[in-house]
Amino acid sequence: MPSLDVRAQRLSFAFADRPLLDDVTFHLTPGWTGLVGANGAGKTTLLRLLLGELKPTAGHLRVEPEGARVRWCAQRVEAQDDDVSAFAWASDRLARRLHGRLHLQPGTLERWPTLSPGERKRWQLGAALWSEPEVLLLDEPGNHLDVEGLQILRGALCEFAGVGLIVSHDRALLDEVTRATLRLDGGSTRLWQHPFSAARELWLAEEAASLETQRETRRRLQQDERRLEASRRTLASSERARSAGARMKNRHDGDARSMGEDVRAQNAERAHAATARRVKRQVGEVREALSKLQVRDEAGQALFLRYEACPVQTVVQFQGAVLEREVALQLRREEHLWISGPNGRGKTTLLRAALAQCRVPEERRLVLPQELTQQESEADLDTLRGLPQDERGRVLQLVHALGVEPEHLLRTEAPSPGEARKLRLALGLGRHCWVAVLDEPTNHLDLPAIERLESALREFPGALLLVTHDARLGSAVTTRQLAL
Ligand SMILES: Nc1ncnc2c1ncn2[C@@H]1O[C@H](COP(=O)(O)OP(=O)(O)OP(=O)(O)O)[C@@H](O)[C@H]1O
Ligand SMILES: [Mg+2]
Repeated sequence: MPSLDVRAQRLSFAFADRPLLDDVTFHLTPGWTGLVGANGAGKTTLLRLLLGELKPTAGHLRVEPEGARVRWCAQRVEAQDDDVSAFAWASDRLARRLHGRLHLQPGTLERWPTLSPGERKRWQLGAALWSEPEVLLLDEPGNHLDVEGLQILRGALCEFAGVGLIVSHDRALLDEVTRATLRLDGGSTRLWQHPFSAARELWLAEEAASLETQRETRRRLQQDERRLEASRRTLASSERARSAGARMKNRHDGDARSMGEDVRAQNAERAHAATARRVKRQVGEVREALSKLQVRDEAGQALFLRYEACPVQTVVQFQGAVLEREVALQLRREEHLWISGPNGRGKTTLLRAALAQCRVPEERRLVLPQELTQQESEADLDTLRGLPQDERGRVLQLVHALGVEPEHLLRTEAPSPGEARKLRLALGLGRHCWVAVLDEPTNHLDLPAIERLESALREFPGALLLVTHDARLGSAVTTRQLAL
């Protein structure tokens, strides 16, 4: 059998004036490789290039042998692909096995728009696995899945024998199933032959070393600049001395001692000028070395949260049936409540019902649904562009603190899912919300943003209603749990 692999050769890609991949080369072989990078770095774009949906602006992307099947499981769960329908109605052994394993009933497909994102994700995954491709591209497959769903996913990935590329911000998942990591950063890629955590340690160590070199180079630059300044001063004073000497010489013409001094002064001046040139050259070299050293600018460290107390004591008071179960929910203005439960248990339905009973005006709520549609994200962008200048500035500051370049966001036509969620969070925080209703807020977010969000939520003085499958986050930022 011919060997199976994927090769990118000097590959570049740009959306209009926004370059995303710049002359990258890599080689992927069978097994799982994690594709990691910040939100908006271009991970989905790279997968779409591999699928042939987008064409490189330069270079090549090849899958060998020719004709090998490439399939992907999309990041978004809005659309129902033909693949999913074909998989639902297939009755071969593999299809039946996958239906059973992922708890999928073909009849439920008819109500696709009302299926929960977790249920839609299972359908997408099933369809991708059922097609038994040689190359499988998974874009955030773990989003929306509950603990059991994640376990099934891990099992299925471990059985796959082709070339697999998986985008995920879930460290545990990456460490368990991948053997290599392709890191996408600032338009370039680098392939590490290690799973995520080990690879990350290596690149952090490299960055720390690079930071140390940068500090050292800066120290040298300062020293050299001081030396340059000193030799300039010496040069200037010897020039002054010589011209004063020349004026004197007119009066004592023919004085041999004075002529000797003149020659010595000229020699000294030449030497000073040479030193000044040499030091200047060194300063230039050090400056150039500094500009080549890449040290990450950790965009904004903390999320700014100013808070004015909400005038009402109880922000939500709800009692009623949620999917045929009686639920009572009360949320006081400074309380943080975690709503937990497996996929399909009605967490999102409960949030919706709670919001309908919310006593806080809409402009003081931060509502982050489990999945933002493309239209919703574009509407948020319009809201941002239309904000008064100072408010827009505040929101953009928060966007930056979450790791998105404000300029990119203002210019993009289609924000990536991670960018869109960060924008929604920033819009709410920038308006000093009294209540935050967050449904799986970490979905699509990159790791630094998850960490920043976690510490911001822990300190958030307002009311919080949080739905998350991430037990670590849930217990870290809430004080009470409602298990459905
Ligand atoms: N059609 C488009 N025109 C212009 N810019 C676009 C377009 N589609 C995407 N972008 C921008 O390209 C960048 C990369 O998008 P992409 O979806 O590949 O990011 P990503 O790494 O997958 O992000 P995430 O982690 O949020 O999924 C983003 O900044 C996005 O705003
Ligand atoms: Mg993406």
